[in-house]
Amino acid sequence: MTEQATPTPTTDWGISERVDELVGQMTVAEKAGQLTQYFYFPVGAGPNVTTSPADFHPAHSEPPPSPAELVEAALGRGEVGSLLFVTKPAEVNRLQRLAVEGHRLGVPALFGFDVIHGLRTIFPVPIAMAASWDLDAIERGQVVAAREARAVGIHWAFAPMVDIARDPRWGRIIEGAGEDPYLAAAVAVAQVRGFQGTALGTSERVIAGPKHLAGYGGAIGGRDYDEVSLSDYDLWNVYLPPFAAAVGAGAGNIMSAYMDLNGIPATGNRWLITDVLRGTWGFEGFVVSDAQAVHDLHTHGFAADLTDAGARALRAGVDLEMAVGDPAYAHLPEAVDQGLVTEEELDTGVRRILEAKLRLGLFDQPYVDEDRAREVLADPSHREAARVAAERSAVLLRNEDALLPLSAEGLGSIAVIGPLADSKRDTLGPWVFDYDLDETVTVLDGIKAKVGGSVDVAYAPGVRPVQRVYASMFDMFPGNSPEDPKGFKDEVELRRAVELAARSDVAVVVVGEWQNMIGEAASRSSLELPGRQLELLQAVADTGTPVVLLVINGRPLDLRWAVENVPAILDIWYPGSQGGAAVANLLFGTVAPGGKLPFSWPRTVGQVPMIYSHTISHEPENQWRRYWDEESTPLFPFGHGLSYGELAYGPLELDRASIAAEESLTVSVEVTNTGKAAAEEVVQLYALSSPALRLGVPAGPRAQRLRADQLGCRRNPQSAVHAWAGGAAVLERRRTRLGAGRDDVRRLGRRQLNLKARHDVRGHRLTAGAALVPSAFTAEAAQQRFQYR
Ligand code: NOJ
Repeated sequence: MTEQATPTPTTDWGISERVDELVGQMTVAEKAGQLTQYFYFPVGAGPNVTTSPADFHPAHSEPPPSPAELVEAALGRGEVGSLLFVTKPAEVNRLQRLAVEGHRLGVPALFGFDVIHGLRTIFPVPIAMAASWDLDAIERGQVVAAREARAVGIHWAFAPMVDIARDPRWGRIIEGAGEDPYLAAAVAVAQVRGFQGTALGTSERVIAGPKHLAGYGGAIGGRDYDEVSLSDYDLWNVYLPPFAAAVGAGAGNIMSAYMDLNGIPATGNRWLITDVLRGTWGFEGFVVSDAQAVHDLHTHGFAADLTDAGARALRAGVDLEMAVGDPAYAHLPEAVDQGLVTEEELDTGVRRILEAKLRLGLFDQPYVDEDRAREVLADPSHREAARVAAERSAVLLRNEDALLPLSAEGLGSIAVIGPLADSKRDTLGPWVFDYDLDETVTVLDGIKAKVGGSVDVAYAPGVRPVQRVYASMFDMFPGNSPEDPKGFKDEVELRRAVELAARSDVAVVVVGEWQNMIGEAASRSSLELPGRQLELLQAVADTGTPVVLLVINGRPLDLRWAVENVPAILDIWYPGSQGGAAVANLLFGTVAPGGKLPFSWPRTVGQVPMIYSHTISHEPENQWRRYWDEESTPLFPFGHGLSYGELAYGPLELDRASIAAEESLTVSVEVTNTGKAAAEEVVQLYALSSPALRLGVPAGPRAQRLRADQLGCRRNPQSAVHAWAGGAAVLERRRTRLGAGRDDVRRLGRRQLNLKARHDVRGHRLTAGAALVPSAFTAEAAQQRFQYR
């Protein structure tokens, strides 16, 4: 990959003078316009967006102008700060010319887009990337995404989504890093670095926009957009840390959330958006609302009308309104007249937007080079990075009798079964729009290419694609909902798949959710495999042919039957453009799996939410039987994931016996692959709260991924040392557990320090470590498998 990392000059020199000069020349309407971001779909394209043209102040015409025409007119009046959903370089240039050449001030528009897991080259979905626990791969993925985005003229990605998700019914669990604040914060930082580079304005990078401040993942019942009630403890220790980390990494933008947080809409919440974000964390970028969220302040009953809604959002600290149509910020001039906001308050927002544009160098170079865009999008190194990412994010959930890896040599035939096995669109996952289906490799394509002509590979879908009961707005984009195959005879196809499996040496069965069943507006009330997929799996397994189950998903699904009856299960998520190639490399052992679950995988929907870091409570020995009808343990614990080799952990080493409050120590362990096959491992260290002490720094895993080439194997013996350094603030009166997963504990340690924790209710902050007494941290060498019971 040829990455130009030379930053464009980002010195402060001249920026504030230039901003002052521009602000001084703007009318109030132009200022309100700079604070508005419009969706732009070319005439006749995109979903059917309903807008109310009246608020665009259009010239009267008959028939009424389309939303696109209204936006174009507003660009020429200098009343558009930003646009979203434009991804074609020629279109970016055309619209940019309207802003730059069509208005006396020539302020370029900022183009933003949902670049969530790639633009043209699609990477595995974010939850999958988190499952790699590989911060370099995660950063690299967003470097590629930023490079493609910037090449086509996009300046800003509405990502990463750093919302903690603990309820898999919530469809947007797929966009984040799972349940754990520590892992999520580390992943957030890697993504911000990948998108933005070292500073705003780094060439080939874009502004990162962590979202959605804050608590969106806590939606009651997992129902998207619904209200959220969070205690101070959860807010500060679970939901806010990834935002704080992303801000610390220099994120240039933050997006506010849709829902009510503890009774106040997040987008109108000054405490959250100004006091915490800017005051406590020192955020200096600009805040955008989620789409239509300012408008929603009226819907929520929080504002009297749109003028009031605009004024409330602005005063809360929302600089830019993302408007599907009918922007509330178009009413800001009235709000100034009515004394609801001051013009100085508008100026503060305008300054932040202009500063971002100047730092990105847009005044010097507002246009993109269309030839270069073509070249960047075709860069083969991007596909290579996507394949590696998909290999690293897969999680081997089960592998009885080492069924995997398969050896092509001993195989005569492979049956590939399930409609998702050959669906290009579903291989990519949700939240992508500019993908290229021709270059997308399905599981079937990948297996065929891998084994060439030496093995007979045959395919049968077995069951028809399943449709959502209620369509979402994303289903309006072409190709986003699965097509029902014409003439598909259910019983005939099921039988055909079973017969194929019966006469094959191995059956690779692919099950999961269609990509439009997960993501935004894709919450579910159940975690079962949609349609007749379980029936298909059971019928195939009944043939006696060994089954390798591949799961395409972004949330845990009910795999209880499979766990009892299917020998090998590999979670491949939505693996992206090169997904099938990666899966084939994993199946045949060209690479070893090493991903680990970033969430606790429940047995059934009735258990959710289920998290590993629950506090220890009355009768902890009965934690596993809190329900009378089902074990209250997960099907797979947080951090679970197998590999092909066999891993041996050496003794836990500490570099000192005691530490004081401000000191840190290094914990290390030698890990060796004693098996024949290659292995990858994520060594995880957990610091658990003492039962007596609930408050304090949250428990969380520290982890390091060791690559196959570092671990060796029996044929090529070598060991890698995992070292983790931590300070007293984290280890305080916590028991440490180190191992290959949350419940696969190889080494235990305990450090005896006294800690006083203080709960500062007024400041909503938990402070730990008031009085620390140095003492010993001793490792118990005993190998112990920790479980809930
Ligand atoms: C709504 C989503 O909540 C947000 O994440 C996204 O960035 C915007 N729509 C723009 O598509």
